[in-house]
Amino acid sequence: MHLEAALGPTGSAAPPSLQPESGTPRLGTTLGRYVIERRLGQGGMGAVYAARDPELDRKVALKLLHPGLAEPGSQARARLRREAQSLARLSHPAVVGIHDVGTAGDHVFIAMELVEGSTLSQWLDRARRTVPQILEVFVRAGEGLAAAHRAGLVHRDFKPDNVIVSADGRVRVVDFGLARTIAHEPPDVDASASISQAGDILGTPGYMSPEQYAGRPASARTDQFCFCVSLFEALHGLRPFPGGDPLAVAAQTVLGQVRRVRTPGVSARLDRIVRRGLNPGPQDRFPSMPALLGELAREALVRRRGLVGRVIGAAVMMFSLCASMLRPVPPQSPHRPAASAAFAPKRAAGARMPEGSRAPDHSGLSG
Ligand SMILES: Nc1ncnc2c1ncn2[C@@H]1O[C@H](COP(=O)(O)OP(=O)(O)O)[C@@H](O)[C@H]1O
Ligand SMILES: [Mg+2]
Repeated sequence: MHLEAALGPTGSAAPPSLQPESGTPRLGTTLGRYVIERRLGQGGMGAVYAARDPELDRKVALKLLHPGLAEPGSQARARLRREAQSLARLSHPAVVGIHDVGTAGDHVFIAMELVEGSTLSQWLDRARRTVPQILEVFVRAGEGLAAAHRAGLVHRDFKPDNVIVSADGRVRVVDFGLARTIAHEPPDVDASASISQAGDILGTPGYMSPEQYAGRPASARTDQFCFCVSLFEALHGLRPFPGGDPLAVAAQTVLGQVRRVRTPGVSARLDRIVRRGLNPGPQDRFPSMPALLGELAREALVRRRGLVGRVIGAAVMMFSLCASMLRPVPPQSPHRPAASAAFAPKRAAGARMPEGSRAPDHSGLSG
């Protein structure tokens, strides 16, 4: 990795592979040694493309700054450089891996592990997800944040668009463009320790913590807040701070006015966990991401067990119903009238059960 050299000032002549009028790379052409194949996504600072690295014969994701933002000395360029450096400090299955940084003409880019899949927002929109499914994906993404905290970084822009869920169910946190390092690492890493410098108001409105709105230092508990905003939205389909405009959202965030909403499947216990992470005071949240994730993982397990228990219960009921229906009925005897009378209510009771047992079909979202 040659971070200093690769992001230093470069000449301004655009290489022939770029469309001069827009600065957007043409598909099928090269940028550095990478062959651009298709566009993957778009963010505030630039675009991300799938590309091929012919040297190493592998696919990569290239994040490019908008050419207008990429002048030497620009803030965006410094941010991309910091993103590259942050990712280089991290090696975790739930954090996207970085391969390279480089420049080509006016373009500055980072080359990352290509994650084939969809953003967490798309994953949530695409199908109706059960509460345990949502919790499992969020716990994995949270493990990526916890890894960043262990490496002395705070992400500061956690949201569903900055998480990718791959087709095989793996989860990666991306976009460390706002990440900051711990300035002076304390001997005992305290999750609530200040990590970023104070004074700058950065993040995505709607997902930002009160301390970000106030321009106060961010900490691991800041990421916990953004994570809980995203989780609240995933569970309820609504943001926790409804506000009519960005200013109202900011005021509600700072005052801790979390929307009251009841959604089938979101238990009171799960609601309490998420609301604790949304406390306006960082000291009132969980002490660390692992503490929060432990609670969420337990909740997912309880719900899965409950679901399995109900499915098994329904199967047993069905089995006993079928068995009782197939059982040969003894010939009627005028001397034993009570036998059939005793049998009838049992069948009736059994027959009602499968109907009630259909509830577990959506029990992933109930109780
Ligand atoms: N490594 C990657 N593999 C696949 N897609 C990616 C990758 N990194 C980013 N993307 C896609 O590009 C989008 C924008 O990337 P992001 O890093 O969030 O940019 P920005 O800083 O501009 O928001 C993401 O939402 C995602 O859809
Ligand atoms: Mg982004």
